[in-house]
Order: sequence, then C-alpha cells, then structure tokens
Amino acid sequence: MNKVERVSSLRAAVSAARKERKTIGFVPTMGNLHEGHLELVRQAKQRAEFVVVSIFVNPTQFGANEDLDNYPATPEEDARSLAELGADLLFLPELTTMYPSALEEQTVVYVPKIGDLYCGKDRPEHFYGVTTVVSRLFNMVQPDIAVFGKKDYQQLTIIRRMVEDLAYPIQVVGVDTIRADDGLALSSRNGYLTAAELRAAPLLAKILNEMAVRMQDKGAIPSKKWLREIESEAKAELLSKGFSPQYITVCRQSDLQPAKRGDTKLVVLAAAQLGKARLIDNLEVELT
Ligand code: PAJ
Repeated sequence: MNKVERVSSLRAAVSAARKERKTIGFVPTMGNLHEGHLELVRQAKQRAEFVVVSIFVNPTQFGANEDLDNYPATPEEDARSLAELGADLLFLPELTTMYPSALEEQTVVYVPKIGDLYCGKDRPEHFYGVTTVVSRLFNMVQPDIAVFGKKDYQQLTIIRRMVEDLAYPIQVVGVDTIRADDGLALSSRNGYLTAAELRAAPLLAKILNEMAVRMQDKGAIPSKKWLREIESEAKAELLSKGFSPQYITVCRQSDLQPAKRGDTKLVVLAAAQLGKARLIDNLEVELT
C-alpha cells in the first residue's frame, strides 16, 4: 500500500489505476481505525478495484470545546491494518492541503434542514465541516464509489443529499454498524470511557432495540403522541443510568424528519453524553 500526502501524488496514483480501467473506491476517515472502519474498507474492496482510504482529523467539524486536540491518533497501527486488508492507497493530507485558505474564508458546503437537526442542533457547524471536507476530498480523489458507516446515520443521509444536489458522479454505499459483543457501537470515542462507563454504555443500543420491538409489536405507528411517549421513556431510562441524553427520536429514514402515524421506513436516532464521551447510535426499523 502506498502512502501519499500531496494531491498531485494522489491524482497520479488514481489516474494510473483509471488507465488500467480500475474502478475507484474511497473510504474517508479520521484515523484511529477500529473494526467499524475496517469493515468499510472490506466493503469498498468488494465493490471497487482500487481503494483509497484517507485519514484526516478535520478541525472544522469539531466545536470549540470538543476533543480536537485529544482526538486519538494511531498512525502506525492504522497503516498496518489497511495494508493487511489490501487497501491500495492511503491519503494523509496536511491541514494546509485540505484548507489552503484561512479557515474563516473557506467556501462552505452546507446541506440545510437535515444538517440542522439532531447532531446539527447540538453541534452547530459540525455538518458544515463534514460536508465541506468530504466534498473537497471527493474532488481530490474522484472516486466512483464512496463508503460510509450507518453508525453516523445523519452524516450518511446528508452526504447522500449533497452527492445528489451537487451532481457528484459517485455511488454512496452505507454499511451497517459494527458492534462489540455487548451491543455497543464501535467508536474511536469509546476510548474516553472508564471501565464502569464501558459497562453502562451498551444500554444505549439496548434501549434502541427495545423501542424497535415496541414499534414492531404494534405493527404500525399508532400516533405521534405514542411515539413521543416511548421517546420520553427511553430518555428517562438513560438519565436514570447516568447518561445525559441529547436526543432520542424516531424519524423517517428518507429525510430524518420526526416520524408520524403511517410512516413505515424508520430509524431511531440517539445521542447521549456518558462521562467524557458523546455516544451516538441508531437503529433502522421497517414496519410492514
Ligand atoms: P470517522 O469518525 O473516522 O468515521 C469514518 C467512517 O467510519 C464513517 O463513515 C463512519 O460512519 C464509519 N464508522 C465509524 N464507526 C463505525 C462502526 N462502528 N460501524 C460502521 N461504520 C463506522 O465520520 C468521520 O470520520 C468524519 O466525519 C469524515 C466522514 C471522515 C469527515 O471528516
């Protein structure tokens, strides 16, 4: 696996692969790779013949009081795992490569409405940072296929919208969340949890499952009121176990608007602070 830092080297490697008529797959990450990220690379390998992975801890998607400075970095392990999986190219851009203009003068890609909900409400500007950097990465790599995790369901939905609205010729693939045996969704931020918090953390996934079962038992959403009730109960349970829930909402998969009676393709989105970690998780629910 080759490692490149400059856009010119990236473009040269990608165009050499294109000359060999290879399809290009792309997996953007912020590093500190775990099984969740590695699954994206495996899926990319299955769908494309030349797979580019990027590692860039993107400052514009972190809020002022967030963990940018402490974000975990494991560059050697990451490169080793990617080489083992057969990734073809690791792109490690410098800050000035991704942001040649001063950050505050930078062109911004903004997906309204979906980007303002949930995590967008709790972390203003977070998704501007994500869509701006992903759009720039897309222009640098020019992949045919880009692979993202459903773990960050709102991010995936926003990127799908961006790709459609800006006519990127890219197929976006969403990959199911990889979990630990106890159900906890794998995340680089789980490293911030203490041993006791790690024992408590799987409750979030458990509650999402319980909500899904309640919806499936009903077979259809009886009313908005019923939905808001099960959401409040879930929040109360999280609060009682030491979490600070930020949101837990049953939404429509298509646009992430809060679900209503009659909706069938649903996703429950949740975010909760536990100790130093902000955990997010979600579960798709389809009612037939
Ligand atoms: P990062 O948090 O490093 O995640 C990179 C990709 O891995 C994302 O698509 C994310 O959804 C996926 N992922 C993380 N944990 C996962 C899990 N347990 N199962 C499956 N997929 C998982 O998301 C970002 O970086 C950034 O916002 C980025 C898109 C790179 C833009 O900076």
